[in-house]
Amino acid sequence: MSETCAAPSGRKPFSFGMDPKVLAFVVVPLLAVTPLVTLFIVPWLWKSLGSLLGWYLRRKTDGRRCHIVELVEADEKAYQAAQKGEEEEEANRKSTSNDGDNDGWESIEAHAAGISTNGGKGEKEWDGVVGFFHPFCNAGGGGERVLWASIRATQERWPRAKCVVYTGDHDVSKDDILARVENRFNIHLHPPTVNFLYLSTRHWVLASTWPHFTLAGQSIGSVIMAWDAFSLLAPDIFIDTMGYAFAIGLSKFVFPDVPTAAYVHYPTISTDMLSSLDPSSPLGSQGVNAGRGAGPRGTLKKLYWRLFAHTYSHMGAAADVVMTNSTWTQNHITTLWGPARRAAHKHSPIAVVYPPVAVRELEAEVDVSLASEASREDVLLYIAQFRPEKNHTLILEAFAEFVKTDTHAARNARLVLVGSVRDDHDSKRVYELRLLVNELHIRDRVEFHLDASWPDILEWLRRASVGVNGMWNEHFGIGVVEYQAAGLVSVVHNSGGPKLDIVVDVDGEPTGFHATTATEFAAGFEKALSLPDPTAVRLRARQSAKRFTEEEFANRWMAQMETLVVMAGARKP
Ligand SMILES: *[C@@H]1O[C@H](CO)[C@@H](O)[C@H](O)[C@H]1NC(C)=O
Ligand SMILES: *[C@@H]1O[C@H](CO)[C@@H](O)[C@H](O)[C@H]1NC(C)=O
Repeated sequence: MSETCAAPSGRKPFSFGMDPKVLAFVVVPLLAVTPLVTLFIVPWLWKSLGSLLGWYLRRKTDGRRCHIVELVEADEKAYQAAQKGEEEEEANRKSTSNDGDNDGWESIEAHAAGISTNGGKGEKEWDGVVGFFHPFCNAGGGGERVLWASIRATQERWPRAKCVVYTGDHDVSKDDILARVENRFNIHLHPPTVNFLYLSTRHWVLASTWPHFTLAGQSIGSVIMAWDAFSLLAPDIFIDTMGYAFAIGLSKFVFPDVPTAAYVHYPTISTDMLSSLDPSSPLGSQGVNAGRGAGPRGTLKKLYWRLFAHTYSHMGAAADVVMTNSTWTQNHITTLWGPARRAAHKHSPIAVVYPPVAVRELEAEVDVSLASEASREDVLLYIAQFRPEKNHTLILEAFAEFVKTDTHAARNARLVLVGSVRDDHDSKRVYELRLLVNELHIRDRVEFHLDASWPDILEWLRRASVGVNGMWNEHFGIGVVEYQAAGLVSVVHNSGGPKLDIVVDVDGEPTGFHATTATEFAAGFEKALSLPDPTAVRLRARQSAKRFTEEEFANRWMAQMETLVVMAGARKP
């Protein structure tokens, strides 16, 4: 090479001192096969490496797998025996006392059992191992409710399937975890067929481990953690319920024939984030990274995020089945993963599987009928913490505007604000809101109920006519589902989950109204309080809330899981 550099340019076309024959018979053919090599050989080698690693992992964990299967069978027998004893005891007790305690979960059991019998025996008998990747399974948040509800649904539909949760919570035993699931979420799992495998690498995904390049670092961490998981057990179906797309990527790499699924609560990188870096975009003025895209640092950051988004979308495309917790998340994931999924021939549509909300309890507690209409007052109810983004100010201004119209509907209307006060900041906000109420001359029309108890909240849900929500771009809005379940006519912000998911038409007829400005909210209040047939709208609202029950979650989950079980079944002859 140095010779080439030293040689005066332009004299000899090939300064290697190379025989033209060598050139013709070696270099040119080599050059010709280079694309072939990069197109076929490299991917083939890459695939073979993955399969080899997979083979190694399976061999390494086969013993544990046998052990788990034996354990499940032994536990099942012991459980059945204990259950029988308990049932006899129960029967004795029942004959003396007579309290029929129905916790709502019974209906889902019955429902799931119904599906199972329809589904055919063969499928019901599927007895593989489902690996749930949820390293923070004992956290007790909304994401965990989804995990437990999905295991529960899986157990109902495929009673012989073995559910395994990969978790990093070393310090808690299976019994402790299951007891907490029962207390915290009122979800009763069938203990024999759920087991826990403990990861020792969870610190790799903590943000504190990666002070710089946190997104990329945590993703690498999740690959390390997934390797840890597969070194414990190779599953027959792999499901990530915490948003670790890179773990799914690793699963597909080492076990190409194992069906995979992702339940996504929130995209790791969102399309809003990407466009918020751009100062000229409409989103550039919002969010923590607003307008940081300027200058050389900004350019680098943009590049890094783009690169990350690109890799993230390829990892996401490794999932055979994709579920999201809301339409908002579905839209983002479709934008990010859609193209790569199509290229990878993943045709199962990205499905919305709403997390379960306690709709049944409200249905039982609040009557919605012509008779109960008489006990409803012209009350607009806003249940929300006194946080700035809930925008109580907007609602107060709208209400003042509505009162000023002095229409028939407005004459007796009252606004009731129910919410918890978490700290001094909240208290200060409430104080300022009270000042605003005075200023707007609506003092005798507005009530504050701070830190109301659940029975008090139920009472307001029975008395009120209209449910209000003023937050811009709320991702979901469980409170709005609760309004609907209680038969309130909703007047909600024209954005986010309340618009996309919750306050939608039922049978082509509205269940509430959307608004953005104070004037639009005032018009919404007028419409909601002057409905010719309010009971019809209330019943439709209640119907709409049924989409968020535990049963509905179980149904949607089972439908997605079915795809995976069919794939897993096709894998083994
Ligand atoms: C989906 O998950 C995100 C992140 O945890 C949460 O903010 C949102 O409320 C969830 N949506 C639903 C429908 O629960
Ligand atoms: C409240 O709503 C008004 C009107 O849409 C808007 O201008 C304002 O920024 C909102 N405030 C917050 C804190 O979201």
